[in-house]
Amino acid sequence: MTADMTRRALLGAAGAAAASGMAAETARAGETAGAAPTKPVRILGISASPRKGKTTAAALKVALDAAQAAGPAVEVELVELAGMNIPVFDPAAPGSADFDKLAAKLTAPGVAGVIVGTPVYFSGMSSLCKAFLDQCMAFRKNNFALRNKVAGVVAVGGVRNGGQELAIESVQAALFCQEMVIVGDGRPTAHTGATLLNTGDDISADEFGLSTARNLGRRVAEVALQMAAAAG
Ligand SMILES: Cc1cc2nc3c(=O)[nH]c(=O)nc-3n(C[C@H](O)[C@H](O)[C@H](O)COP(=O)(O)O)c2cc1C
Repeated sequence: MTADMTRRALLGAAGAAAASGMAAETARAGETAGAAPTKPVRILGISASPRKGKTTAAALKVALDAAQAAGPAVEVELVELAGMNIPVFDPAAPGSADFDKLAAKLTAPGVAGVIVGTPVYFSGMSSLCKAFLDQCMAFRKNNFALRNKVAGVVAVGGVRNGGQELAIESVQAALFCQEMVIVGDGRPTAHTGATLLNTGDDISADEFGLSTARNLGRRVAEVALQMAAAAG
């Protein structure tokens, strides 16, 4: 084979691969569009900030709004742990009345996705978030009740590169232990999750961070809708 023929063959193969990739994308988009579950697909946002209604809650609202916009079957709800009694996990005395109510909400029929939001505390999750995730031991003991629910994570920090990704990954590590289906922020950002910057208790100037929150919400909803459609 001459060098020119080799080049032509390679270009041809690349073109065919690109065409089949585009076809696959089109087919996937079609699947999503065709996936119209008749039952509600509920997505809960869990804010693990000890400060009610502040930036973690605001970031979750952005993600939940994007999730809701993904399809008419999607229902969303924001749950704030602030003010609830979610104690440090004690194996000798697990749970609390507030956690038990939350557990019932998380496992209610139709709940297909969960977006966990945490403020960044010293490059990790908040202690409230860790307490919540440790209390989730109850789900493992209850036949892995969170199994196959779609999960995404939002982290809000006071500085850019303040540990948002580390916080997200440590929350994801705990969610993997629940056999949840973990997703990141969808395209075009498409990384680990929603990473936001709080400036003066306000996230509205963080255009990039807001886009990651929207992309995460949409991605969680997209996968939840496809799973609901596949389950029938
Ligand atoms: C104890 C503590 C530790 C913090 N550590 C970090 C940090 O390591 N990186 C960062 O970016 N922000 C850090 N922050 C700032 C918070 O993450 C930020 O203000 C966040 O938006 C708070 O969320 P909230 O508004 O929902 O309370 C810290 C705040 C507190 C109270």
